[in-house]
Amino acid sequence: MVSGGGTNLQALIDAQKSGLIHSGEIVLVASNNLQAYALKRAEENGIESVVMTDEEELIRVFQEKDIQLVVLAGFLKILSSRFIRAFEDRIINIHPSLIPSFCGKGCYGLHVHEKALDYGVKITGATVHYVNEIPDGGRIIAQKAVEIKEDDTPQTLQRRVMEEAEWVLLPRAVEQISEMIAKGEK
Ligand code: GAR
Repeated sequence: MVSGGGTNLQALIDAQKSGLIHSGEIVLVASNNLQAYALKRAEENGIESVVMTDEEELIRVFQEKDIQLVVLAGFLKILSSRFIRAFEDRIINIHPSLIPSFCGKGCYGLHVHEKALDYGVKITGATVHYVNEIPDGGRIIAQKAVEIKEDDTPQTLQRRVMEEAEWVLLPRAVEQISEMIAKGEK
C-alpha cells in the first residue's frame, strides 16, 4: 500500500527482480492517492494497481486476491480497526525513525525528520514493524540506525534514512515473513 513517491515500493520491485524476494510476489499495489508516483512505478513494472479510499472495498479486493501479506510501503494514512483486524498479524509498515522515537499519529513522511532535527538527536534510523491498532505501536521486526550530520536538512536526512536503512530493511523483512508464510510457519 502506497501514498506518494513509492521509493520503498521500488526497493521491493528491485528486490523481487534481483531474487532477494523470492518467497512471495507483489500482486497488487493499492494507493489512497490517485496522484501517487508509486502508481506509475507499478504500471512500468506490469503490476496491477488500484486507487481506493474505501477500506471495506479494499478488504474485499485483498480477500478476493487472497493477499497473504499487506506491506505499508510509504502508506501515510492510519488504517481502521476493521481493516487491521481483517489482516491481523499480516500487515507490516516501514517507519522512518527508531521507534518509539518520532512516531505515532501525525508523525509521518518529512515531519518525522523535522522532529528529529528539532529535537537534536544525533542518531535516527528506520523501523519495520507489525501493524496493530496503536499507530506505530506494533511489534518491531527490524531496525537500522543512521547518523545525523551537522548540516542535515529534513530532505537530506530523509534521503539518507531511505538509502541506508529503509530500502535495505523493508525488502529483507518482506522476504523473511513471506518465507515464514510460504513454509506455513505463520
Ligand atoms: C518513507 O520515508 C516512509 O518510511 C514514510 O514515508 C516515506 C514514503 O516514501 N512512511 C511513514 O512515515 C509512515 N508513518 P516513499 O513513498 O518514497 O516510499
